[in-house]
Amino acid sequence: MNRFAASRMQRIEQSGIRRMLEKAMAMERAGREVIHMEIGRTDFDTPPVVKEAAKKALDEGWVHYTSSMGLLELRKAVAEKLKRENGIQADPEREILVVAGASHGMAITLMTVLEADEEILIPEPMYLFYLDWAEYLGARTVPLPCLPENGFQITRQSLKARVNPKTKAILLNSPHNPTGSVLDRTSLQAVAEVAAEHDLLVISDEIYEKIIYEPSRHYSIASFPGMKERTVTLNSFSKGHAMDGWRIGYLAAPADLVWELEKGQQHTMINPTTFSQIGAITALKMGDRIVRPMVEEYTRRRALMMELADQAGLTYFPPQGAFYFWLRHGVSRVDGWALVDTLLEKHGVAITPGEIFGPSGKGYLRISYSNSMENLRKGMGRIIETLNDLK
Ligand SMILES: Cc1ncc(COP(=O)(O)O)c(C=O)c1O
Repeated sequence: MNRFAASRMQRIEQSGIRRMLEKAMAMERAGREVIHMEIGRTDFDTPPVVKEAAKKALDEGWVHYTSSMGLLELRKAVAEKLKRENGIQADPEREILVVAGASHGMAITLMTVLEADEEILIPEPMYLFYLDWAEYLGARTVPLPCLPENGFQITRQSLKARVNPKTKAILLNSPHNPTGSVLDRTSLQAVAEVAAEHDLLVISDEIYEKIIYEPSRHYSIASFPGMKERTVTLNSFSKGHAMDGWRIGYLAAPADLVWELEKGQQHTMINPTTFSQIGAITALKMGDRIVRPMVEEYTRRRALMMELADQAGLTYFPPQGAFYFWLRHGVSRVDGWALVDTLLEKHGVAITPGEIFGPSGKGYLRISYSNSMENLRKGMGRIIETLNDLK
């Protein structure tokens, strides 16, 4: 630990996914070929029409600060989208904040709402960047174990058992990274009821909402009766629009909370990148025309992953959304890290061990299928071979 780093940094881990990615990239620099199935980065390019809009914006001089709330035209486009697709009525002047991706939106939300010693409930397994945030702020993450046999759904009972006077918020992510599950209406209703009974905030990360497979459906909890006033809905252009490098997203929340969140924005970013905001306006105007072809391809890839796992007799959670395959590895001789390291070093396939997403991830692998069918076939072939060797 560097002597200048604050002690609170010890409460945060380097990302395990990044660790795999860095190692894989070092191997590539040394001339090895690697199949990337570790990162949640879509392999699609940003649609040309969106790129053109941002290029034009640069040429036209959109190179300065904007309002720290984000461009009003973008906020208006977001408000229309939220009304049309999510059943959320948000005032673009006061209830929408444009952020530099959901990560940034989440960071300023947690910084804004969590007091030291307060608790936040997060369904587990969980997206690993959420694990440490509360600890960093001197608050506490309380995992809410969710099981594959229940489709990773949330029950009123398990929620109630973990709520206490220190509980401040519940953090949801659906469709889910890493399990590919989607929360059904019953789970969301349970969260809504418990949140109302105990006056809790709900933070809902919906960045994979567009990547969803029949018959699953995405519901925004802020559209449930009485929930808008206690929900922060987070979304971004990273996944559905293949714009992860643009660092652009948005959140919707009650006006008096957005007022506080905007302070976090001002102190960290001032505003998200101006020409990215222009690109995002075009992306929203294009609607699902951008997203649909990508989802069709993800649907084919998902089917391939299940077919290959079935042929090998492996157990997995059939993805309902997002692009992650949650596979039970069935190896007891070595731990998850040793398994993925062997796979990368010997076979040139990068994936992530389930345990980095929480204790119940032990015994699982998260395999991202944001890669070509050809690479998925090759990658899965080598994964299956390695699992057989280690059993
Ligand atoms: C659940 C979840 N939330 C947030 C993010 C980060 O999103 P953004 O690129 O919008 O910051 C990711 C990225 O993988 C994710 O999986």
